[in-house]
Amino acid sequence: MGSMLYSLLRPLLFSLDPETAHRFTFNAIEKVRRLGLLTGGPIPCESRSVMGLDFPNPVGVAAGMDKNGEHLEVLASLGFGFIEIGTVTPRPQPGNPPPRLFRIPQANAIINRMGFNNHGVENLVANVRRTNYHGILGINIGKNFDTPVERAADDYLICLSKVYRYAGYVVVNISSPNTPHLRQLQNAEELDHLLGLLKSKQLELADEHAKYTPLVVKIAPDLVPPQIVSIATLLMKHQIDGIIATNTTLSRAGVEALPHASEKGGLSGAPLKECATAVIRHLHDILQGTIPIIAAGGIMCAADAKEKIEAGASLVQIYSGLIYRGPHLVHEVARALCASPAPDLLCSGSG
Ligand SMILES: Cc1cc2nc3c(=O)[nH]c(=O)nc-3n(C[C@H](O)[C@H](O)[C@H](O)COP(=O)(O)O)c2cc1C
Repeated sequence: MGSMLYSLLRPLLFSLDPETAHRFTFNAIEKVRRLGLLTGGPIPCESRSVMGLDFPNPVGVAAGMDKNGEHLEVLASLGFGFIEIGTVTPRPQPGNPPPRLFRIPQANAIINRMGFNNHGVENLVANVRRTNYHGILGINIGKNFDTPVERAADDYLICLSKVYRYAGYVVVNISSPNTPHLRQLQNAEELDHLLGLLKSKQLELADEHAKYTPLVVKIAPDLVPPQIVSIATLLMKHQIDGIIATNTTLSRAGVEALPHASEKGGLSGAPLKECATAVIRHLHDILQGTIPIIAAGGIMCAADAKEKIEAGASLVQIYSGLIYRGPHLVHEVARALCASPAPDLLCSGSG
């Protein structure tokens, strides 16, 4: 879809409640796709190998857009080089009561406190088995809200075992701000324990399925430097295959005093960009290319994505940018990152 068309459609979508707009958009694109009018695959690029997987282009859709893996063909038709679905939990759960998703258009930002609303891992696996999408699929896993955090590992192990053979890579989400205590799994002692268990399970499953599925950890932007050092050190110790930086932030910098700024939840979009990029830079300093970094956070234009790559990321993911800029952003970012030599880019605002 061209950027012009999206700028015409956006006021209509933004006049709807955000969750309604989300459903409406997926249903509308699905109808168009079923009519055979949307047949695009990944935007062509020189493919790059990351975590042993060949990515047709470096632009992915971030977790949370398609929690149950119901829209894989639609997302693929937008040109993404890879798709991440979830966060999924062992058992279905409704998430937090609505309203739980808020746009802050003055700042190109979103606040959400969805709380892992999803249909459970069995349903997600059934959807993945049915799909005709055969590109790279990340599956992002979490814990049920009523599983005590001391038993969180059980939930991750259940999900890992169930999704293992269907996933291109599996993401351990320990950074959502909307599941109480989840982020404490980023603390050294708890993370060491969790990663040890997940790594052994991964190796066991690799034997069983004769397939190695990379394990990736997704972290928060709200970490102080010593925490970043301790997480990076543990990822290397446990030979984790990749890291996603970052999830949404608890900070309200950049949206203070705007409507909805005081809603509880995680902030994403433009105001998150600098902080998320700083985390990538710090991680890259420590990891020195030993573990690939996947960037997420505030990519609203091609220049933002280029900054993430320059900070040390191998791949990028977008969520809020898609809401503010429309599907054209996928093309804009992929073209810019695929061109060699990379063009000089300026972000012209997200209009
Ligand atoms: C409505 C919404 C739901 C999200 N749900 C999840 C989720 O289930 N799991 C997850 O790991 N991240 C989730 N995220 C975080 C995104 O994957 C991404 O890390 C974050 O939004 C930063 O990227 P952005 O600035 O491009 O949106 C969600 C974000 C939004 C806006």
